[in-house]
Amino acid sequence: MPPRVGLMRTAKSFLTLAELNPADLALVLDVSKKLKETRGRTSLRPLKGKTVALLFEKPSTRTRVSFQVAVSELGGASVVLNSDEVQLGRGETIEDTARVLSRYVHAIMARVNGHSEVERLAAASSVPVINGLSDLYHPVQILADLLTLRERKGRLAGLKVAWVGDGDNVCNSWLIGAATAGIDIAVATPSAYAPDRKAVETASSIASGTGASIALTGDPRKAAQGADCVITDTFVSMGFDAQRNERVRAFLPRYRVDSRLMAVAKRGAIFQHCLPAHRGEEVTDDVIDGKNSAVWDEAENRLHTTKALLCYLMLKGPELQTLR
Ligand code: CP
Ligand code: NVA
Repeated sequence: MPPRVGLMRTAKSFLTLAELNPADLALVLDVSKKLKETRGRTSLRPLKGKTVALLFEKPSTRTRVSFQVAVSELGGASVVLNSDEVQLGRGETIEDTARVLSRYVHAIMARVNGHSEVERLAAASSVPVINGLSDLYHPVQILADLLTLRERKGRLAGLKVAWVGDGDNVCNSWLIGAATAGIDIAVATPSAYAPDRKAVETASSIASGTGASIALTGDPRKAAQGADCVITDTFVSMGFDAQRNERVRAFLPRYRVDSRLMAVAKRGAIFQHCLPAHRGEEVTDDVIDGKNSAVWDEAENRLHTTKALLCYLMLKGPELQTLR
């Protein structure tokens, strides 16, 4: 019997990645693949007549452009709102903003400083809310990373992924994504920069159902041992610039991904990075520009996975199934 995907959605919003059960995660990735294959060759416009608000409290290249292009190619319209240009930036509450936007648009994507802001937005909104990055999670990124990994390795369950560097927002969502997809994940961080405790708990609880394993260590070589994919991110996320010097001291040189670390991973292991990269800091040029780097496909896949996620959240189950 086919899995009852797309029909069991419990949450209309997408804030951490834990909203997707394994079957629905597979569905979103399948729809992403289909939309990638048919890009420019399909007359389907599933978001025709729908508008998506894209709210930014922080800068963005990939999230902003991929969402705008995704909505446009799906036949919808988007409105970009920089927080300092709307009344939110002058003190209008998040709840009031959510209520008003819900009367105009059919979904809201928000990139916020504190994760509680996107939670409050979702709680007060009557349309789906997507977290486009908060200090704690970056779930839309992990959909692209998982699609990229599946393209390169042909499957997800049973693979091993190594996260090396800061236990940041991308790492937290990777823990949940890996657990949901049945991927073993090893995270190597300095102890002061370990992933969020609640994210680890959530991922562990999901992993107990999927058979995935989660390992936290301080040793990058131990994490990378036998990995199919090595991932890192900046050591200084947006909002943490005041800590730049102490962070660089804590991470370098031990946590930089270089060819010696990649050599510990499995033969043919790929390298991923959500970008923007700080070349020479968290990753060397020869790795990010090397033949096993998947970062440009990963960036492209933000577009295809964003389309699939919008369809998942905004269309009815049967409409969604036709896109698979
Ligand atoms: N990876 C990512 O989210 O990039 P932007 O900050 O450019 O959106
Ligand atoms: N961890 C990074 C991701 C950027 C896409 C940050 O939050 O700045």
